[in-house]
Amino acid sequence: MLSTDFTKSEFLEASDKLLQMGVNNSKHPFHQFVIASLDNQVIQQRTVVLRKWVLKRRSIIFHTDIRSPKVKQLKDNPNCSILFYSKEDKVQLRFKCVAHVHFQDRLCNYLYSQTTTQQQQCYTYAIEPSHPILEKSKEQAYENNKISKQSAKTNFAACVCNFNELELLYLNFKSHIRIQYNWDKFSKLTAQYLVA
Ligand SMILES: Cc1cc2nc3c(=O)[nH]c(=O)nc-3n(C[C@H](O)[C@H](O)[C@H](O)COP(=O)(O)O)c2cc1C
Repeated sequence: MLSTDFTKSEFLEASDKLLQMGVNNSKHPFHQFVIASLDNQVIQQRTVVLRKWVLKRRSIIFHTDIRSPKVKQLKDNPNCSILFYSKEDKVQLRFKCVAHVHFQDRLCNYLYSQTTTQQQQCYTYAIEPSHPILEKSKEQAYENNKISKQSAKTNFAACVCNFNELELLYLNFKSHIRIQYNWDKFSKLTAQYLVA
C-alpha cells in the first residue's frame, strides 16, 4: 500500500513490488500496460502483457509476434513510452524507454521455453498480424483451410524496453505526489518532485 508518508526511495521500492506482482498475477492491474511507439510521425498505442520486470536492469519485457507492425515501428524508432495504471493503488507509472527486439537469440529462446502451449498458439498461424482476412479470425480461417500453421518459434519475439526515466504519480485526495526518477549513463539515480 502506497502512502503520502513515503520517501522518493520508498515510492520506487513500492513500484518495484507492484510491478513484480504484475508479472506474477494475471489479475493485477499491472499485468498489462500500454506501449506507444512511432509509426513514422504518427503515434500508435496498444496493450501488451508484462512478462518480466527487472528494476536493476531497468527493463520491461513483453512477448510479441516478429511480424507485427509494432516490431517494425520499434526497430525503425526504438524510442517508446510505457504506461501503467492501477486504480486500486492510485498510481500511474510512465516510463521513457528504448526498445530492443530479440528474435531467435538466447534471450528469446529462453523466454519462449517459459511460455505455455496456449501462449504459443498465438504465434503458430502462417498469416502475419494486421493482414486483412475474409473470415472473422485467423482461427476461423485456419478451420476453413485458408491458412496453415507453423512452428510458434518461427514468429515468437521478445521485446526488451530499457528505461532511463520513470515518472510516478500517486493520487491522494489531500495532495497528489509526482516524482521523476532519472538514471544517468553510469546508472546513477536522481529523483525530484514535480508539480502534479
Ligand atoms: C489485454 C491485452 C493484452 C495483449 N497482450 C499482447 C502482448 O502481450 N503482445 C502483443 O503483441 N499483443 C498483445 N495484445 C494485442 C495488442 O494490443 C495489439 O492489438 C496487437 O498486438 C497489434 O499491435 P500492432 O498492430 O501495433 O503491432 C494484447 C491486447 C490486449 C487487449
